[in-house]
Amino acid sequence: MKTNVISENAPLQSLDEWEDDLLERYPEPAQPAKAKEEFRNYDEPGRDTVREFYRLNHTYQTYDFVLEKEREFLKFDKREMSIWDAFDFLNTLVDDSDPDTDLDQLQHLLQTSEAIRADGHPDWFVLVGLMHDLGKVLCLFGEPQWAVVGDTFPVGCAHSDKIVYPEFFQANPDTYDERYNTKYGVYEPNCGLRNVHMSWGHDEYIYQMLKDYLPQEGLYMLRYHSFYSQHREHAYEHLMDEHDHEMFKWVDKFNPYDLYSKSPVPPNWQELKPYYQQLVEKYLPRTIKF
Ligand SMILES: [Fe+2]
Ligand SMILES: [Fe+2]
Repeated sequence: MKTNVISENAPLQSLDEWEDDLLERYPEPAQPAKAKEEFRNYDEPGRDTVREFYRLNHTYQTYDFVLEKEREFLKFDKREMSIWDAFDFLNTLVDDSDPDTDLDQLQHLLQTSEAIRADGHPDWFVLVGLMHDLGKVLCLFGEPQWAVVGDTFPVGCAHSDKIVYPEFFQANPDTYDERYNTKYGVYEPNCGLRNVHMSWGHDEYIYQMLKDYLPQEGLYMLRYHSFYSQHREHAYEHLMDEHDHEMFKWVDKFNPYDLYSKSPVPPNWQELKPYYQQLVEKYLPRTIKF
């Protein structure tokens, strides 16, 4: 019995399995063969864990579940930490079951931010790269994987068939609830995504944590970086307004850095530290509430 509970919380051997699956679905356009060869790190059994992960995610992420998690976590009464302590905390997530995770969580963040910096983008964009997955600390507060990572999607209205594994929404009670199963559900046409509740996970959590400290463009990147059914499939334009469309140009700019900046060479943290300390000091308070 206990084993079932554990695997319902953690069907993936590591959170990276979800991101590796994204690379399978959306290989780097310029060099698909290379992306596939270099980044794939699971075989068929791995696929099953990703499938199971999405089965749980699509079954349990209901409108009510999301509102409950928002109430629970957006009080930010769990912990107060400096950014650096938060990265150390996040790094305790490293798990040795994944062949590719010699790279810890901070290194994915640094690789993302360094790739953004190398392309000459504004410093707040670099900071977004550094911070974007910090919300994964939710796992360390005991949250199941399917409520931390995975593609996000609007709740409270019909699920698009453009969302990965749409068939698993058959097990979601909202699919049969007339309040939530129409095209617009609880929302108005083109009401703007700020009025839309997204499935709960690390994107919304980090956005809410940093919403007073970064420019709008950066906040959109944080909040919607896993919303693949929109940024790759354009499935939710009927809920978006003009402002969303403007801001999604930035979400689209950010996405390749998140997906394709993984490299086996770890960034030299000691060398980079002074730059990032200044950057964090420029934009963020000394401690952040989780
Ligand atoms: Fe992420
Ligand atoms: Fe990421």
